[in-house]
Amino acid sequence: MANKKIYLDYAATTPVDAEVLQTMLPYFSEEFGNASSLHSFGRTAADAVFAARESAAHFFKCSEEEIIFTSGATESNNLAIKGVLRAYNKNKKNKGKIPHIITTVFEHSCVLKTCQKLEKEGSTEVTYLPVYADGIIKASDVEKSIKENTLLISIMHVNNEIGTVQPIAQIGKLLAHLNEKREEKIIFHTDATQAVAYFDTNVKRLGVDLLSMSAHKIYGPKGAGMLYVKKGTKITQIQDGGAQEFALRAGTLNSTGIVGLGKAIEVLEKSKKKEVKKIKELRDYLIKKVLKEIPGTRLNGSRSKRSPNNANFSFSDVEGESLLLYLDADGIAASTGSACSSGSLSPSHVLLALGLKPEQAHGSLRVSLGKYTTKKELVIFVTKLKKVLEKLRKVSGEILKEYYSKKK
Ligand SMILES: Cc1ncc(COP(=O)(O)O)c(C=O)c1O
Repeated sequence: MANKKIYLDYAATTPVDAEVLQTMLPYFSEEFGNASSLHSFGRTAADAVFAARESAAHFFKCSEEEIIFTSGATESNNLAIKGVLRAYNKNKKNKGKIPHIITTVFEHSCVLKTCQKLEKEGSTEVTYLPVYADGIIKASDVEKSIKENTLLISIMHVNNEIGTVQPIAQIGKLLAHLNEKREEKIIFHTDATQAVAYFDTNVKRLGVDLLSMSAHKIYGPKGAGMLYVKKGTKITQIQDGGAQEFALRAGTLNSTGIVGLGKAIEVLEKSKKKEVKKIKELRDYLIKKVLKEIPGTRLNGSRSKRSPNNANFSFSDVEGESLLLYLDADGIAASTGSACSSGSLSPSHVLLALGLKPEQAHGSLRVSLGKYTTKKELVIFVTKLKKVLEKLRKVSGEILKEYYSKKK
């Protein structure tokens, strides 16, 4: 029997669920209308988009008009940050003022680079909050960093590399309290891309004004996502054009993708509780087995406050890229660093932010589980991992030790 490939990179992307695919199919061809057109083709597409909006609103516990469909979390995060800043700058009252943004050092690059760019341009001041050794930020650090000109706080719900969970609801509560006394309310955004499948993302409970997510992380299609925008939030569109999505996101709606996103949310809502339990048990089994059976291993990030699907390890005396390639040759797909930054040889900014040495950050492997993961796959994975590590440690251990000692 041919060896079946084992996919352990669900944090990078997930396959489209069969039910989701079936629901999407007619919208590629028969029901191809532009959701903005007034004729029956357009109305059919608009109805399907509305149904997806209803599913999303039900899931996030908000109203339909608060759902803005985008092309994914990168766009949602850009819209959240730049849209809030643009609205601030459009207000004559703010002429000549520089607002302040609070974020963290270990956000996804689409948040981090957006903030760094705006800061470089001189459009905003930015505070990058530290993350502690357990991979979690402190709500008290958020409070301490707030200034009179703080406009926006953008903090991810679950980190994409180490899966650690941030105290979003706690920060939300804190802000609700502080905002009562402020004339200009601080806007709170969370990138919940890695959280939606596993945690309660009720926007009211979290206390957020803006929330980003992406369909392809929840068994929906790539190229579809959304931004929750609480009614009354001061935000404007960042790309100019049509008045789609309540004039917040110009461009013809990706109705097929949106239908897929809506269905993926529905499927998730029905199965979430059961899946979370199953995946968490498998992850705990994996972590325990790897830490026990493989010497020179550490788990990165808190063991308890992490996403049910994430295990991020550092292995001594190996290099993550080589590990990844050897595993791939053995039919196993995992990841080192974030999906978007792997391919570059610089160590992960997330792992360095936790205080890992470059050699520890280089020897990291993210194993992310999903709804199709089985215990059998994990058993095979650990067996193969042990063999690959043995091989690599023999070859690279001494070379790497010498390399890092020269760098010191
Ligand atoms: C936390 C987080 N934010 C944003 C993104 C970007 O999402 P998208 O691929 O939908 O642009 C990702 C994808 O890896 C992510 O994990």
